[in-house]
Amino acid sequence: MDDATNPYSPGAGRLPAALVGRDAQIAAWDVALRRLEGGRDAQPLALYGLRGVGKTVLLTQFGDMARAKGWLVGQVEARAGAPIRQLIGDEFGPELSRLARPGAGARLLQALKSILAFRATYDSTGTWSVGLDLKDVPASPVATGSLETDLRVLLQDLTAAMAERGAGVALLIDEAQDLTAEELVALSAIAHRATQHRDRLAVAVAGLPSLPRVLTEAKSYAERLFNYQTIGALAPQDAKQALLAPAEAEDVAWAAEAARHVLKMAGGYPYFLQQFGQEAWRAAADSPITLADARVGVASGWHALDTGFFRVRWERATRSEKAFLRAMSADGDAGSATADLPPRLGVKPKSLSVARGALIAKGLIYSPDHGRVAFTVPGMAAFIERQTDQE
Ligand SMILES: Nc1ncnc2c1ncn2[C@@H]1O[C@H](COP(=O)(O)OP(=O)(O)OP(=O)(O)O)[C@@H](O)[C@H]1O
Ligand SMILES: [Mg+2]
Repeated sequence: MDDATNPYSPGAGRLPAALVGRDAQIAAWDVALRRLEGGRDAQPLALYGLRGVGKTVLLTQFGDMARAKGWLVGQVEARAGAPIRQLIGDEFGPELSRLARPGAGARLLQALKSILAFRATYDSTGTWSVGLDLKDVPASPVATGSLETDLRVLLQDLTAAMAERGAGVALLIDEAQDLTAEELVALSAIAHRATQHRDRLAVAVAGLPSLPRVLTEAKSYAERLFNYQTIGALAPQDAKQALLAPAEAEDVAWAAEAARHVLKMAGGYPYFLQQFGQEAWRAAADSPITLADARVGVASGWHALDTGFFRVRWERATRSEKAFLRAMSADGDAGSATADLPPRLGVKPKSLSVARGALIAKGLIYSPDHGRVAFTVPGMAAFIERQTDQE
């Protein structure tokens, strides 16, 4: 069938036609926003799960919900080598500038002055202007050099400005496992203080399954501070809806056995569901999508995953890292005890620590527990076993 109406969306952060099975997290976020609006405190959320389960999509949904209430929204993606200071400054700068107009309230002027000063701490060449005269506006201490202080003061000024307009500020941080220890400490402290002071700051972070451990190691009270939500495979009923509803909206039906086949092969995993759905749609001549279409769809779907999704990850690894991954693949998706790997490779334990660290930094593996490593993508072990070449 025509790709122009293909409702399936495999890909990083691509909003699915039907966002199902995340009602609990969406409700928690909605409650947080409403509590803050009512002058109450709200627990920041931490979403964690494997790659391709829908964390980014959920954060984007959180952003849309806050924006619909007129809130200021900043959504950033942490990555090694990109300071959070800069990511946040660059995100909020233009957003806030849009609110600048003559007659803006005193708090907004203060916030504008703060964001300009904050951005100047990492980019001295910045010549941003908000088109308003801020000469007489008092300066807040957002350029002390301490990330925790500068970011806290900036966010206080932003929340005060938005509160003046009956709204608040939402800070959404993706790939949060890649934040530095200093950044995690600052973030936890700021979120903690905001809840105590009833600032209208809603925080949600998302990351790999190592996120809860990484947060707690950075700041021990982070264990109680965040509302941890694990994002996993969809329950059978939700997976079915994720597959059927988008087609139904296009007046296309799935034969029962065709849907069963795709659902079984996808195992409730959102990324695979989108990929197989997309390929089955392409294979089908017309509604309904038949079992034969579904079989072709799953086969081309696996092929697409092998040449794209899995391969790009595999190719990020160097030769010695690939050897490490191969040694892990014998244990399947469940993960490996790090101590089991050196004997398999015939090397000393110490010689593997570099590869282990690099693979974690590249987001290919994570450490679910001390002394353990696991793949961040379901199906990666089987993919590696399928690679017969010498890579
Ligand atoms: N609730 C859902 N129902 C159906 N499909 C979904 C759902 N959530 C996400 N998807 C689909 O799953 C895929 C992966 O989503 P997303 O990029 O948000 O995952 P992620 O967890 O952020 O992955 P990564 O860790 O790689 O960043 C996308 O194709 C998206 O359309
Ligand atoms: Mg993501």
